[in-house]
Amino acid sequence: MATEVRAGDLAIGIDFGGSGIKGAVVDIRTGQLAGDRIRVPTPQPSVPREVVAVMDGLVRRLVEPLVGREEAPLSAAVAGDLPVGVGIPAATRGGTVLTAANIDSAWIGFQAEREMSLAMGRTVAIGNDADLAGLAELRFGSGRRQRGTVIVLTIGTGLGSALFADGRLLPNTEIGHLELNGRDAEERVAESARDRLGLSWQAWAAGFDKYLHLLERLFWPDLFILGGGASKRADNYLQYLTVKTPVVVATLKNNAGIVGGALVAHEKRSREAVSGTGEHIA
Ligand code: BGC
Repeated sequence: MATEVRAGDLAIGIDFGGSGIKGAVVDIRTGQLAGDRIRVPTPQPSVPREVVAVMDGLVRRLVEPLVGREEAPLSAAVAGDLPVGVGIPAATRGGTVLTAANIDSAWIGFQAEREMSLAMGRTVAIGNDADLAGLAELRFGSGRRQRGTVIVLTIGTGLGSALFADGRLLPNTEIGHLELNGRDAEERVAESARDRLGLSWQAWAAGFDKYLHLLERLFWPDLFILGGGASKRADNYLQYLTVKTPVVVATLKNNAGIVGGALVAHEKRSREAVSGTGEHIA
């Protein structure tokens, strides 16, 4: 860890995906990871109790190497107090999970922020995974200083979305579930759909392009930012897209969710410091 890192700028980000749970300690001033990124498989079935236990173990593994090292050691007390932000692949409000498209349905109604905080003994903030990835892209990545309407899409197991107007997020847009050719767009356009349907990149891109045209007609965005797993392979399909709106690839790629998690964790910690309470403030 670089010596200029200040403990007060560190937070832990976790990205809960259909197949893996990834996390890292992040320096929220720079958006850089301040330690190793660790990925563990998502328990199957992905019921809340199992997932929370895996996340707790992950957090311990992330923090361990930062304590008591020669260069810039964190005290055990500081390390034990780092806040955690978790991106959930679902709509969330007031710390509670509201939907479950690609995770176990037991998540619906689960008070994740409270339960995770109790399990980990830390401040925990949750949010929709694509919203958190979008926040990170607008702060540190391809959407930096971008005004107007920006749509960030995360293309992975599901199709996530984050909608920004002049840098402000409208949370839980869930436009990955808009209807496309009479079906849920995610079923045709998510990265998992390409594998499941055995599509070539060109064939997949034709459906994705239709979807982008639909968003273009509904939102008139100034910019599309493509993130998630498929952003790593954008060279395979960018040339097939015909929308007029500029399309760029997410700079933070698969780390955006982790970095965004750390951002909301740090914000929650700051609010607690102001209000003097650990309660969730909507
Ligand atoms: C969920 C979204 C999520 C996206 C990406 C969708 O199926 O409905 O909430 O952001 O997958 O994980």
